[in-house]
Amino acid sequence: MTSSIGGGTAPRTGSRLQQLVWNRRASSWDHGGVTGLGKVIDAVLEQARPTSGAVAVDLGCGTGSLALPLAERGVAVTAVDLSRAMVGQLEDKAARAGLSITTRVAPVEHLDLAAGSVDLVVSNYALHHLRDPDKQAVVEAAAGWLRPGGRLVIGDMMFGRGATARDRAIIGSKVMVLVRRGPGGWWRLAKNVGRFSFRLQERPVSMDTWVRYLEGAGLADVTALPVVAEAAVVVGTKR
Ligand SMILES: C[S@@+](CC[C@H](N)C(=O)[O-])C[C@H]1O[C@@H](n2cnc3c(N)ncnc32)[C@H](O)[C@@H]1O
Repeated sequence: MTSSIGGGTAPRTGSRLQQLVWNRRASSWDHGGVTGLGKVIDAVLEQARPTSGAVAVDLGCGTGSLALPLAERGVAVTAVDLSRAMVGQLEDKAARAGLSITTRVAPVEHLDLAAGSVDLVVSNYALHHLRDPDKQAVVEAAAGWLRPGGRLVIGDMMFGRGATARDRAIIGSKVMVLVRRGPGGWWRLAKNVGRFSFRLQERPVSMDTWVRYLEGAGLADVTALPVVAEAAVVVGTKR
């Protein structure tokens, strides 16, 4: 079941660019894009501790890496993404698997849910696309949607611009992988330097920053867990 939300509030330029990018990548996402994300997806699902009958929201759901396994475990999932094509892929997979998932095509920045209406807010590799104030605003909104005891679990690339040894190790290893690929990798490296330096599409922040956002939103027991390479999970519980 799909609906568009945020009617009347057109996506901002950044979101429109993301829509174009992800509509183009949708058909190939499951054949390359998502394949390296298995460990972080598993870590998010483990931290989410889903139980049958729970109500969950998946922010930036893509083709359903979290929404589908949650629905398989009896969770009532609303899956939100600004790319209609990504949501279309998710809906096809859910239909083939006989799973019922509510979908919404919208930027997560526009999502408006009733206070205290969900047990779980999850997200995987989507929120680094948001501007930093929007990340913080979405975390605050999510804290409001959660019932007491509910959990916010975010998996994402989490690193800063080189202030810590972990940042430098992640940036260094990304550079080396691309350098070793030869001219194609050098071109990709140049593009990534632009994207990350000017924070055009990729706007990761460090684990510490995510912890600050969740604690600032009043969540308890906030923990950040490195998973592999750049990937980490941050989790907090509604008091
Ligand atoms: C790297 S993919 C990850 C998709 C999925 N969560 C996964 O684990 O495979 C990022 C997703 O975030 C979505 N996205 C990016 N910015 C968004 C925004 N502001 N609101 C909603 N979705 C967004 C993209 O359309 C894309 O589907």
